Amino acid sequence: PEPGWTVETDVVIVGSGIAGLSTALRYLAACPSGRVVLVTKDELSNGSTRWAQGGIAAAIDPTDTPVAHMVDTVLAGAGLCAPHAVRRLVTDGPGALRWLVEVGAAFDRTPEGELSLTREGGHRASRIAHAGGDATGAEIERALIAAVRAEPRVEIIEHALTLDALLTVENGRTAVHGVTLHVMGEGQRDGVGAVHARAVVLATGGLGQVFAATTNPAVSTGDGLALALRAGAEVQDLEFVQFHPTVLWLGSGARGQQPLISEAVRGEGAFLVDAAGERFMLGEHELADLAPRDVVASAIARAMARNGTDHVHLDARHFGAEKWRTRFPTILASCRAHGIDPVTDLIPVAPAAHYASGGVCTGPDGQTTLPGLFAVGEVACTGVHGANRLASNSLLEAVVYGHRIADRLAEGTPVPALSGAAGPPEGEHLAGLADPAIVGELRATMSRHVGVVRDAPGLAAARDRLAELAVSDSGTPGVEAWEATNLLTVARALVAAAEARRESRGAHRRADLPEPDPGFRRPIRIRLTDEVTT
Ligand code: SIN
Repeated sequence: PEPGWTVETDVVIVGSGIAGLSTALRYLAACPSGRVVLVTKDELSNGSTRWAQGGIAAAIDPTDTPVAHMVDTVLAGAGLCAPHAVRRLVTDGPGALRWLVEVGAAFDRTPEGELSLTREGGHRASRIAHAGGDATGAEIERALIAAVRAEPRVEIIEHALTLDALLTVENGRTAVHGVTLHVMGEGQRDGVGAVHARAVVLATGGLGQVFAATTNPAVSTGDGLALALRAGAEVQDLEFVQFHPTVLWLGSGARGQQPLISEAVRGEGAFLVDAAGERFMLGEHELADLAPRDVVASAIARAMARNGTDHVHLDARHFGAEKWRTRFPTILASCRAHGIDPVTDLIPVAPAAHYASGGVCTGPDGQTTLPGLFAVGEVACTGVHGANRLASNSLLEAVVYGHRIADRLAEGTPVPALSGAAGPPEGEHLAGLADPAIVGELRATMSRHVGVVRDAPGLAAARDRLAELAVSDSGTPGVEAWEATNLLTVARALVAAAEARRESRGAHRRADLPEPDPGFRRPIRIRLTDEVTT
């Protein structure tokens, strides 16, 4: 659609979680004359960040080191982490955490006044800072929103779905110089408009809503990833969707966002048991219940298959009422709201889609394969997560890499695009808007065939079903049709990546190819036009 209004700015940031807000604040601090337009699909606070429970990882304990943090990150990443990217993450991690404290995030402290640190899966040291017990994301988001609202050089546009990148093509090379948006509801700017900027930063979060059950909120429909694909950017590691092992099981028909039981609960000593009451993680991994997430999720899948059940249990009754109340108040309330009292009851849990370890390919300063387009946070693939993200590295990555983008943009020199074969996209995928009525079937297909354990026939069935759903597009323009289109675009790319990875590695488990294959120790990259490159 033709834009009805336009705005000019320096930098347009799409998304208002920790990634977008950290980028905005750092850019404005580093560039006194800078201006930012911050676009968000719902209200500012309504992304994934506020749901983050466990915390943010950084090597700040005197007995810990960035190198130890790097080792744990790389081990969890199952051979696919980009070492330089991880080194930047762990080295800049303590500074990023201090920055959040300076912005006003109130982390939990010990009686001596030090930051209180816990453990989660895959960490061999206590390095997870947390707030409000188990409400870390909510506290960080609160502090960042307060800081952004106090900043007169940010124009905030809420309730605005970003549609597409504005592209120019010169000498066969595509560059991005803004975005089109659809602002929902009445306001100063409503309907379809355009924001022109010298840089577009995608900070749109994840894609959990392509699955039937997920920890992600309703807004996580892969919009930034789909936009980047349509613009011709390369994406990477999409097959590595992380399934969180312990999501409150609300019955086999549960759909949409499901309550998370933080890994920090296991970090504090809770353990998993199967239908027979056996601790099945003992003997699975040296870290037992605190093994990396992919290991725990697949062990749960096997325990459920063995016992013919659709959930297992988490036992944290030994915490007692006081520890539950003070350390995990959010989870306690959420369990009780569903009729489970974790002080006296086992908690029924099952894996659900949680985090996209892959995303839009980015270089050291967040640049994508398209000049002018940047990505940060869950929508990006910096290479730090490899085949399986280490717990609590995501909030950290968002700040560290958001700051890197901001610092480079504030310098004013053009940031060279990541080398890649990006060009203007063509093809049937861009034909039209999808019918929102397909979304239920899309999600059921993805959960049935592209879940914790996959195989070739299932992936082929998913590919064919999604192709059928793509043909039946009859959507009229509107936010629901755009979201359905984005879900379809992302789901098809994810299935293409999962079919191309003919091995099991990290969060991508294939029943028909159960072992890692050293020949596949490389990322799978996808563009919309040529589908898969490795
Ligand atoms: C959790 O609290 O278990 C989630 C932490 C994360 O996803 O990193």
